[in-house]
Amino acid sequence: MRQAFQDCCPPEDLAAIATAPAANPDFGDYQCNAAMGLARRLRQAPREIAAAAMAGAPACPAVAKLECAGPGFINITLDDQWLATQIDLMAHDFERLGVPCPGAGRTVLLDYSSPNIAKPMHIGHIRSTVIGNALDRLHRFLGYRVLADNHLGDWGTQFGILIMGYRHFADQAALASAPVEELERLYVRSYEQARADHAWMDQCRAELVKLQAGDPENHRLWQQFVDLSMGEFDRIYRRLDVAFDLTRGESFYHEQLPGLIDTLVERGLARASEGALVAFLEEEKLPPCIVRKSDGAFNYAATDVATIVSRLQEFQPDRIIYVTDERQQLHFRQIFAIARRLGIEAELAHVWFGLMRLPEGTFSTRQGNVIKLERLLDEAEARALELVRQSSPAMPPAQQREVARAVGLGAVKYADLSQNPQSLVTFSWDKALALNGNSAPYLQYAHARIRSVLDKYQERHPDIRLDSQPILLGHPLERRLALHLLRFPEAVLQAAQLYRPSILADYLYELAGHYSSFYQNLPFLKEKAGRRESRVRLCALVASVLHRGLDLLGITAPDRI
Ligand code: ARG
Repeated sequence: MRQAFQDCCPPEDLAAIATAPAANPDFGDYQCNAAMGLARRLRQAPREIAAAAMAGAPACPAVAKLECAGPGFINITLDDQWLATQIDLMAHDFERLGVPCPGAGRTVLLDYSSPNIAKPMHIGHIRSTVIGNALDRLHRFLGYRVLADNHLGDWGTQFGILIMGYRHFADQAALASAPVEELERLYVRSYEQARADHAWMDQCRAELVKLQAGDPENHRLWQQFVDLSMGEFDRIYRRLDVAFDLTRGESFYHEQLPGLIDTLVERGLARASEGALVAFLEEEKLPPCIVRKSDGAFNYAATDVATIVSRLQEFQPDRIIYVTDERQQLHFRQIFAIARRLGIEAELAHVWFGLMRLPEGTFSTRQGNVIKLERLLDEAEARALELVRQSSPAMPPAQQREVARAVGLGAVKYADLSQNPQSLVTFSWDKALALNGNSAPYLQYAHARIRSVLDKYQERHPDIRLDSQPILLGHPLERRLALHLLRFPEAVLQAAQLYRPSILADYLYELAGHYSSFYQNLPFLKEKAGRRESRVRLCALVASVLHRGLDLLGITAPDRI
């Protein structure tokens, strides 16, 4: 369309000329509303502009017809034969399904999950894990070299508090049987004491400074806390099928902090203020950012700036993406500003999300911990097992459990991923496990049903080589399905570029909807030869797209449910 507008549009507006899927499929497949936008600038009637653009449109094998409608929309109808050829190409591109590799040669470092040692893994970390892992998969698929880094909070103020809690209240039996629960109790106990008692608070700070200065006893305790927590986190990651390339906590950068602080001071980027060292960011219209506290302890901001510097030196990423909850927006704006002032040019992005509410009693930010997340996953699998037993009573029990695992975990992940990440949502079992609705089980069932249709076809026609049969797009429902299939690459690209896995989730949900009208209204196994093969091939392509799309969201689609 851009070429069509070339002669009738100021060059600076050309980039904004775009087409979108038609609002009403009766009038075409795509539409272009650019003439309306240009009318005022050009002082010309939109219909005239549209007519001029249509006259200037180069012949294109993809386009069957262009029509001007209403005040000046251009409706675009694609050529059936062209569409059929594209579907055929996509079906043969079994691995990538038409998705390009724009990331080839580029490196993305993804900082996600990043829970705090010895502190509850709160709901924000779970969202970060699920959303971050989807972004990880999407970027890898698009050809980026991805380094997934779990930036553990293993060096913060919590250790002073915890060391005091451990020294005074530790229950060794509890530490042996339920270590993280006990660490959490010790932390909370000491934290509450510190809030009421200044002297206690000062001692906590002193323990932290000792730890950070390398005190062997405090270091030994610290290592013990890290190991206990990691044991639990790893269990969750295995279960969620999440893996990191690097697990480097804040402690990894500890020794680089004094040097960084010197650089900041030398370059006039930070100066002393009320005993602390502060970066003033008026130019960026941001509040001042403390990089070293008045008690001498380096803080979260200093560590994060050092982390950026170190990552750039070691990996030369083109982009660093951080996934955390919304409460850290200011923090990242500040450290990105400091990084810019240090001359760092890599793209820096903070992907934030609102907190998800979980049903009462299941999980809450205050008392949520790893154990409770595991219970949530247990319950998801148990509920899914019920569903699977009902839908496939004849399936062997071991397979039922395997499928229930995929469905239960899929439901929990998808409930998170299908939301606009920045809206506040409440998790509900009914919605997450709904078989008719925007849920993982709905998509997984659609996928499994198609697989069984394909098997049935194969049984009946074992000799027909499907992939050499022509695609025929006669019926509008067939055409609509084909058009939607061809939008898969765009959905994947957008989900990655806008950091919104929900775009892919929505795409898959719509695909399943188009498929189900196609399936319910058109015969296919009973259709006559030729058309039948074409329809079966469309089905197979839908199954591949669902399978791949769910995989990019971190969700398994079993062949049978
Ligand atoms: N540990 C932090 C928290 O729980 C999240 C870390 C995010 N990554 C980073 N580089 N700051 O809030």
